Amino acid sequence: MAFWRRRDGAKRRRFGCLPIFLTVLILMILLIVIIAWPRAMPQSETLPAAVAAPRPVPLRTVQSFAGIADTDQRSVALFTEAGRVIQHPRCLNCHPRTDSPTQTDAMRPHSPAMARGADGLGLPTLRCSTCHHDANFAASGVPGNPKWRLAPIEMAWQGKSLSEICKQLLDPGRSHMSREELLHHMAHDDLVGWAWHPGGDRTPAPGTQQQFGALIDAWLKTGAKCPS
Ligand code: HEC
Ligand code: HEC
Repeated sequence: MAFWRRRDGAKRRRFGCLPIFLTVLILMILLIVIIAWPRAMPQSETLPAAVAAPRPVPLRTVQSFAGIADTDQRSVALFTEAGRVIQHPRCLNCHPRTDSPTQTDAMRPHSPAMARGADGLGLPTLRCSTCHHDANFAASGVPGNPKWRLAPIEMAWQGKSLSEICKQLLDPGRSHMSREELLHHMAHDDLVGWAWHPGGDRTPAPGTQQQFGALIDAWLKTGAKCPS
């Protein structure tokens, strides 16, 4: 009996292998089909569009200072507001107290290192105009203006307080500009105007050149008082 039982069991085992073998076979075929099934190749993705230009920061209007009854105080307040433009990196980068301009909002040293040269236009071997052309050049990110050059050393603003800059602007010994010329320069000069259209992702100076000119005009008309 034992013998037969063993043979029976062996027979059952042999039959039991077939479904397992078939299942494995089917699974393998399925796997091959899944792996080999044609599907779309990964497509190249479009990168997000260039970072939007920074939003302009507003400047207070002359009228908004009308509430300050004291003329001297109003004059100081007007210049302090205009100082937000004067001490903006867009202006300070060109008014350094060394012989080299600075760059970016962080006012890093200009790269490559530049020397002022006799005329503020660089050394004979490396002129500002080698890289800075008549207009901003989007492809290279180099800002431009036909008059691009460094402000003379006696007009240095970096590292000075607004009070010091104010007194320096009005000091005929240091500046060669009369008050009328100063107003015209600030309100209409297109090199100064570049600061509101600096190109690239540079932060423009607050407000508009027209609003800035109006603040300077009102400051001069109220006696051109300097903050202490
Ligand atoms: C690309 C360089 C550059 C930038 C940017 C620049 N300036 Fe100047 N700035 C000059 C130069 C050069 C002079 C000298 C102009 C002259 O002698 O005719 C000057 C002179 C001045 C003066 C006369 C100062 C004095 O003591 O007589 C004022 C005011 C002035 N700039 C205002 C500004 C303001 C405000 C900004 C920013 C909104 C600005 N500048 C941005 C180059 C620059
Ligand atoms: C070899 C090329 C080259 C030369 C020469 C050169 N620059 Fe530049 N300059 C650049 C580039 C590039 C930038 C822009 C850097 C950035 O914004 O990251 C720049 C930026 C500046 C800025 C910063 C503007 C801002 O507010 O962000 C000032 C100011 C400046 N240059 C002044 C000058 C002056 C003045 C001269 C001549 C004495 C000069 N550069 C010569 C290449 C040059």
